Parts: sequence; C-alpha cells; structure tokens
Amino acid sequence: MIRIVPSILSADFARLGEQVREAEAAGVDAIQIDVMDGQFVPNITFGPGVVAAIRPLVSLSLEVHLMIVEPDRFLAMFAEAGADRLIVHQEVCDDLRGTLESIRSLGVGAGVTLSPETPAAAVRDAFDLIDLIQVMTVHPGFGGQDFLFDQLAKIREIREMLEADGLEIPVGVDGGVDTTTVPQIVAAGARVLVAGSSVYNNHGTVAENIDALLASIGSD
Ligand code: DX5
Repeated sequence: MIRIVPSILSADFARLGEQVREAEAAGVDAIQIDVMDGQFVPNITFGPGVVAAIRPLVSLSLEVHLMIVEPDRFLAMFAEAGADRLIVHQEVCDDLRGTLESIRSLGVGAGVTLSPETPAAAVRDAFDLIDLIQVMTVHPGFGGQDFLFDQLAKIREIREMLEADGLEIPVGVDGGVDTTTVPQIVAAGARVLVAGSSVYNNHGTVAENIDALLASIGSD
C-alpha cells in the first residue's frame, strides 16, 4: 500500500494544531515532523515541545525526522514527547547500529534517511534494525524545493538490495513529492511519500491536496 505522509514543515505554524487535525481528518495515518538544528541543515524548526503539543491532538503516528547533529542526545526526549518513530540521518551517525539500537530500546520505530549525496550502500548494514528507509529527494533543510530525479535510481537500488535479502522494509521519499513526481516515485518502488508543500498550500485544502496526490499514483 502506498502511503502519503504529510510533512508539517509547510503547515501554517500559527495554527499547527488545526493543520495536523486536518491531516488526520483527510485519512492519513502519520505525519512527519521535520526537526532542524541549524547545524546539520541551514535552518531551525521544532523541538520536543512541539511533538508534545501535537501528541494529544491526534492519534496519527508522529514520525520525527531528525535533521540534527548528534541525534543520540535527543532520542529519549522525542520519544518521551510522544514520537512513534525516530528517523535519523546516516550522515551524522558515527555508530548507526548503536543509534538504532538506542531508538528501539525506547520502544519507538527506527528509520534511517539518506541525503542525496549518500549512496544506498551506506544503509545496508542496518537493515535488521530499521523499519523505514527514507531517500531524501531534495537537499535537507527546506520545503518547496525541486525534486531530484537522480535519486530515483537510488530508490530502485535500495529496493533491489532489500529484495535480494528477502526483506520487506518500506522505502520512503521526502522532498519534491507532488502530483507530477508521484508516478515516477511509485514506479521506482517507494511506498511512503512524505509531502509538505504539496499538502499544505493555498491551492487547496489538506484533504483535496492529499486526494490529488493519491489520484496521481496511477496517472503515469
Ligand atoms: C527537507 C524536508 C522536506 C519536507 C517536505 O529537509 O524534509 O523534504 O519534509 O518538503 P516538500 O514536500 O515541500 O518538498
């Protein structure tokens, strides 16, 4: 099954509670919360307090995308705040397996995400510890960027690696997901589509935008 996971990075922060409720009402089962520290990426966004504020409002899976250096410092805080999955960047994990084991010991899901310049092989040694592999299809830090089509090959490569090992770990993409890129993304084998500016914008309601993304799946 192909899942749309709205990223709140492009939501209206002045009414964030309403916006996450709109996503839930639209029928998605998760949202992604893009945490940025101004070091790993040249932007700053949310902390554990925002996860804690959102937690009681919805029953959605809160998937926290940690675009931060030294993520181990904050794993427990985000888990305690209500995160259901913590997604770490391979690029900042000196001991990726150790970080993933720490996440799992907190009782939450463990995902790994790869920036565009990071090869698929970088995640190969962690397959037994992860439940989501997320391919960044923009350079992390900002919403509304253009999709990087050269990442489609990486999606296919990861899917082939998983199939060779007989594994069913879902592959996600994050960045530039919209009605024009969804068909190629799905054809490459991704099943979790993180979408920010194509869900939260002034062109349509959250529900209308999500429906448009779903409708585009078979439109190639
Ligand atoms: C980048 C963020 C974005 C966000 C989605 O660091 O991770 O990819 O989730 O942004 P859009 O969908 O607007 O490209």
